[in-house]
Amino acid sequence: MFVIATWLVAAIIQSLLSISNIFALPVSDVLTPNVIRSVLTQTGIGKLFLSQFIALGIALLLATRMGTAHQARTALLVVLGANFIPALGGHSGLAKNHELAASTMAVHLLSLSIWVGTLIAMTMWFHKITLGREVAAHRFSQLALFCYFAVALSGVTNAWLRLSGFSDILSSRYGQMVVVKVLLSITIGYFAYLNRQRTIQAVAEIRFPTRLVIGEIILISITLGVAVILARTGFPTQDSSSLPSLAEQLLQVSVPDGLTFVSALTSFKPDALWLIIELLACIAYARGVQRLKGKWPVKNATAFAGAILMLTYATSGGLGVYSHIIFSAHMIQHMMLALAIPILFVFARPLTMAKQLQEANPEFIGPIDWYVSAYQSRFWTFITRPMNLVAFSFIGYVGIYFTQVFDWLMSGHWGHVAMQVYLLTYGYALMWSVIGIDGASDGVTKTQIFLLLITEPIHIIFGISLLFYNKIIGEANYLIMDRPYLQDLAHDQKVGGILSLVIGETLIAGTLMYLVRVKNKGTHPISRFSEHSP
Ligand code: HEM
Repeated sequence: MFVIATWLVAAIIQSLLSISNIFALPVSDVLTPNVIRSVLTQTGIGKLFLSQFIALGIALLLATRMGTAHQARTALLVVLGANFIPALGGHSGLAKNHELAASTMAVHLLSLSIWVGTLIAMTMWFHKITLGREVAAHRFSQLALFCYFAVALSGVTNAWLRLSGFSDILSSRYGQMVVVKVLLSITIGYFAYLNRQRTIQAVAEIRFPTRLVIGEIILISITLGVAVILARTGFPTQDSSSLPSLAEQLLQVSVPDGLTFVSALTSFKPDALWLIIELLACIAYARGVQRLKGKWPVKNATAFAGAILMLTYATSGGLGVYSHIIFSAHMIQHMMLALAIPILFVFARPLTMAKQLQEANPEFIGPIDWYVSAYQSRFWTFITRPMNLVAFSFIGYVGIYFTQVFDWLMSGHWGHVAMQVYLLTYGYALMWSVIGIDGASDGVTKTQIFLLLITEPIHIIFGISLLFYNKIIGEANYLIMDRPYLQDLAHDQKVGGILSLVIGETLIAGTLMYLVRVKNKGTHPISRFSEHSP
């Protein structure tokens, strides 16, 4: 609680100093309610400060009533959210490829806080752990290793985006500071390696290698100082001719040069955040398949691979690239995220896999248990209630596109990411409930068919409305982008409507046929098959 309170106070002081810096006025002059109110509510940086204050305020409230592991997890999520907010703006917005700059910065800050936070927690409480010390030490060292590489990789990628070539590394002040950070990080890595060795011995001795850890924490603090200076140092590509275009500055979206069949298929612009999520999901699933000793059905694993490939294409591949700037491409992405990918994920049956792993090793409590308990949480129960799923469907189509919400979400990279998260989460919850194959039900009930049949008209009405709607959805943003192709926005919107109808209805009809087949047979064919698998 004390740490969060200190963080909140520091964030408030930092915001005041930043406002004074922006207006080039002494702090005492900006300390007026009018200036503070207008900066916090009307400027991009002010809104970020305000969001961080709110997140920290919530975290502080949660910290006062922390009694259970569930409450601790909720507080942790809010704190990580507060930590993630600075990545949404600031220096990354000025980099040439700022979608990648912003997402690598988010990965940098999130993995850094998980790593350093866990290190401090282990130093403070390791000696108090009585049960499961070995598991804690093992998990800590795995987590720290993973986070360390995530920090280094995201840091190097982010730095590279701000340099115009190798020559900038030593010739610019920014490049030199990056070199200092890399050297410090290598030294920290060496300390961490020594810690890792000693921690394994420490399990028997009930204490953490405190002296080494303190050395590591001092080095981390120095690196943090260098990071803050780096973030305030102009970088080479910032003041060269490669300044971001208007669309890049306002929407944080870069407009790809040409649209051809080949470029739509082969373009690739990594979205670090999604790539990390995909990588973690792949590692977890592959380990599951391995631990079930090859008895996991190939068709489930194939569905998983298909879902991951499709998600990568929809977020970092050609579809991800063009979905930011072309409405019809955005519509295909919508159908992929809300229907196709969730269907494949359900057929991959990750929950069934997790339950089988739990049964195979009931004493081991870890991420698998958290994963399984997420399906029993109030959040999941709430979002999978049939009437709520219908409401989310309505929001996903009418609520987003026929209000100002679409314009607002498309007016920045993170709005687009938020929309992707919404569509994928709601789509997965819907398909998990409707298909039922991954632990939602044994056979097919009327509710499942009803749920699919009631969301279908919403989808059909949406697609037809797009064909006849005479207002251009997201017009202001598309005009700012001023893309050199597909400039007839009204026509593109109609194409979007047709694509949404064709893709969406094909997927819904396919799912319905599957349900009817299963209903006629009695139970899910895959459930019967894999009950005896592991
Ligand atoms: C291979 C090593 C690393 C590289 C190449 C690297 C690179 C970077 C870059 C390019 C930025 C963005 C600065 C800007 O906005 O212009 C950054 C930010 C940051 N880095 Fe690193 N980093 C590395 C390791 C670390 C480590 C080990 C830590 C902490 C111990 C760290 C802490 C931070 C923090 C806190 C920020 C945000 C600073 C701010 O916005 O005020 N980095 N890093």
